[in-house]
Amino acid sequence: FTPKRLAGRKVVLTAGPTFEAVDPVRAITNTSSGKMGYALATACARAGAEVVLVSGPVALAAPAGVLRVDVRSALEMRAAVFDALPAADVFIGVAAVADYRPLQPAEHKIKKSGDTMRIELTPNPDILAEVASRPDAPFCVGFAAESRDLDAYAEGKRKNKKLPMLVGNLVADGMGGDDNTIALYDERGRHPLPRAAKSMLAQEIVEHLANLLAPAGRE
Ligand code: C5P
Repeated sequence: FTPKRLAGRKVVLTAGPTFEAVDPVRAITNTSSGKMGYALATACARAGAEVVLVSGPVALAAPAGVLRVDVRSALEMRAAVFDALPAADVFIGVAAVADYRPLQPAEHKIKKSGDTMRIELTPNPDILAEVASRPDAPFCVGFAAESRDLDAYAEGKRKNKKLPMLVGNLVADGMGGDDNTIALYDERGRHPLPRAAKSMLAQEIVEHLANLLAPAGRE
């Protein structure tokens, strides 16, 4: 691993799940430990980047040398990302953003009754797709966690969201644990990596993205 491959670069990342309020004490969420995003934030900082980590609720400490911004909902995450974006060279969306949020969260705790209950949901903005579609977009990296057909979904997402690079994994391989099996997808195709600790994979992801970044401003 070549150190300081990201010296002089600003990297903004999202990590963890988002929590979408149903009422003051309840929320819908995705399961995400935040471990991959935090490992990647650590690797970017060690590679010399200025790092802003926009994090949903996780049980992890902020990595050394990283500015962490805590958020709960997708809308808060989107606002924090856009605040951090000026002068960013790289945006990495690792967060498992909830695709929907309750349309009208209740102001007070919902009391139970014996009846069935419906919660109306409205789609959340796709933060990564929005960042990647800006005319002044930084180099954007996406993540895809799939339960099947990884290659097809990963390449589809990379193209739909207009990303130069995407990291794919199968949910069963990575969820919650310290190791993962991933493949990197870019314009040149698919690059599978051997199963390894998330900290090691984070270094390989940084190495790959540093190779793809335009040379201007490097080292
Ligand atoms: O489409 P899917 O949610 O699987 O795409 C995953 C990628 O898109 C991840 O990089 C994730 O952080 C990002 N994403 C986002 N905002 C959303 C949904 C996904 O930034 N609302």
